[in-house]
Amino acid sequence: MAKKISDKFLWGAATSSHQVEGQNYLNDWWAWEQNLKVPEKSNLACDHYRRFKEDFKILKQLGHNSHRFSLEWSRLEPKENEWNENEWQHYRLVVSELISLGIEPFLTLNHFTLPKWIADKGSWNCPETAVYFERFAKKAVEKLGDLVTYWLTLNEPMVLAILSYLLGIWPPGKTAIADMSRAIEVQMRSHINGYIIMHKTAERIHRKKIYVGIAKNIAKMDPCTEGYLKNILPTFWRHHFYNHFFIWSLVNGVIFFPGLFSKVLPFRRSLDFIGLNYYRRFHIKYAGFSIPKMLGDDCLCLEHRIGGKRTDMWWESYASGLYDLIRDFSRYHLPIIITENGIATDDEKQRIEFIKDHLDAVAKAKKNGLPIEGYFYWSLMDNFEWADGFQPHFGLVQVDYASQQRMIRQSAYFYSDYIKKIGLV
Ligand code: FCB
Repeated sequence: MAKKISDKFLWGAATSSHQVEGQNYLNDWWAWEQNLKVPEKSNLACDHYRRFKEDFKILKQLGHNSHRFSLEWSRLEPKENEWNENEWQHYRLVVSELISLGIEPFLTLNHFTLPKWIADKGSWNCPETAVYFERFAKKAVEKLGDLVTYWLTLNEPMVLAILSYLLGIWPPGKTAIADMSRAIEVQMRSHINGYIIMHKTAERIHRKKIYVGIAKNIAKMDPCTEGYLKNILPTFWRHHFYNHFFIWSLVNGVIFFPGLFSKVLPFRRSLDFIGLNYYRRFHIKYAGFSIPKMLGDDCLCLEHRIGGKRTDMWWESYASGLYDLIRDFSRYHLPIIITENGIATDDEKQRIEFIKDHLDAVAKAKKNGLPIEGYFYWSLMDNFEWADGFQPHFGLVQVDYASQQRMIRQSAYFYSDYIKKIGLV
């Protein structure tokens, strides 16, 4: 049985610093935007850096009991080993504001963006980044560990490794398998270093137990029905590589993947809980045996290209996949928190249906005794969706970027009412 980490079901919404704060001009994404690598720039984003109090009033109004957000490392350590005390003070205010409203902070140390000075040294391809991360993690717990109990080290390390180091569409725009593998390993080592130092620091300075996890992307993987038998093996590999491999490695203290890794890590069992980010289903088709072909291709057959329920990102939403994956991840005997789940749409009927179906899956998991302890909708508000800019609208709250006005959507109220109705809290 997984040991519980919270006596109440944690629920609320998630954001990340670069997507909502605005003016994060000291990080690698900002530089990427200025170099016109993506169609839109984040600029002021939602101006959440200045408007967080107003935004947190909305959380209170909606009854959320927890809130997931991230620190912007580039603000806190703008130059190597030089800390900006005013920025630490800022995040202390942010955390204190949540606590004064009775909302539990759920804090991510690093959500994709890196300080420019680390990017200049090679980002997640530079082995020292694991040392920089450790120092940052220690500082964060020193500064905020008395107030924050729940921590995530990294967000979606596999998505980052694939998009930034294999497909080259996010900074630093690399496109080699070796770069991807290095980015995976450096992130694993960063997480482990962070996990160890964070616990030690919380114990030494605050005499307090904290819980440290990771936000791991997962997706439902199904074989394409056309040529079904041939598609089973690549589906298995993709499920293992994309969904399990990172967590499996941390739990077992070994990085192993045929043809890519075979190494022992310095530590095992460096997770107090597993955060899962779930959005969609893929259908997979056989592509060959080499790396990365063994992971298959996305199926392009008509049924799986246009079938199912599609969001504005053209992702297929598939709520029962969430239940299947919670059950699947219960194999690690660790508490599970859904750290992201959401839909890009302008159709409120569609968002409400999405929330309802996915909460039903969570409620079913809980009823069946699976160790699910929280759910965060992505996102609190519309925001800067990386390479897709401001167009996709994931928010419970609509943002008018010209006036920075917030408008609470109908689905936000539905979410709050429904979570109570199905007895999650
Ligand atoms: C996840 C990211 C988050 C947001 C959502 C839509 O992969 O963690 O920042 O972009 O997707």
